[in-house]
Amino acid sequence: ARVVVLASGAGSLLRSLVDAAAEPDFSAEVVGVVVDRECPAETVLGATRICPRDYADRAEWDRAITTAVADFEPDYVVSAGFMRILGPTFLARFGGRVLNTHPALLPSFPGAHAVRDALAAGVRVSGTTVHLVDEGVDTGPILAQEAVPVFVGDDESSLHERIKIVERRLLIEVVAAVAARGVIIDGRKAQIPSD
Ligand code: GRF
Repeated sequence: ARVVVLASGAGSLLRSLVDAAAEPDFSAEVVGVVVDRECPAETVLGATRICPRDYADRAEWDRAITTAVADFEPDYVVSAGFMRILGPTFLARFGGRVLNTHPALLPSFPGAHAVRDALAAGVRVSGTTVHLVDEGVDTGPILAQEAVPVFVGDDESSLHERIKIVERRLLIEVVAAVAARGVIIDGRKAQIPSD
């Protein structure tokens, strides 16, 4: 299956996915990368940059990123550290085929500061969630989760790094399964058909 990755940051998840997809028997190939800002992720594969500030308004940016991603003719889109909310035009085009990875056990700690919020809440266990993107913020049907322990003395970066180690593996497992077998959405639930 053809996969386009959306990124905004360090690109470590993108790098892991590109490396996994380089294996000949991997069920997905990363055919394109789109970023919304200058970022290290841009250098992983050479990316198309669609910056909101280049567009008059959100609707125009929404159309531009939809076109940019559609040009790669993806089967699935993977948001790996993409820090923008995907708009109605994008979701109308790719809805049900957009995966996101979030560094917390949703529905706990949605939004852009999940790791910081988990630490502030004093949780002893956090984790990562891979889910389908819907029109909300981190609210789409959950595909996979894995817990990650919080250690005394953790700060945002130490906990986030520990979570990213798990994310890299979990995201690749889910992308491989979805690329090979698809995903069935039933209301708030999503299932990947078993082999
Ligand atoms: C990941 O933790 C992801 O869950 C969150 O942003 C981070 C991306 O990290 N949305 P990187 O930019 O791939 O290193």
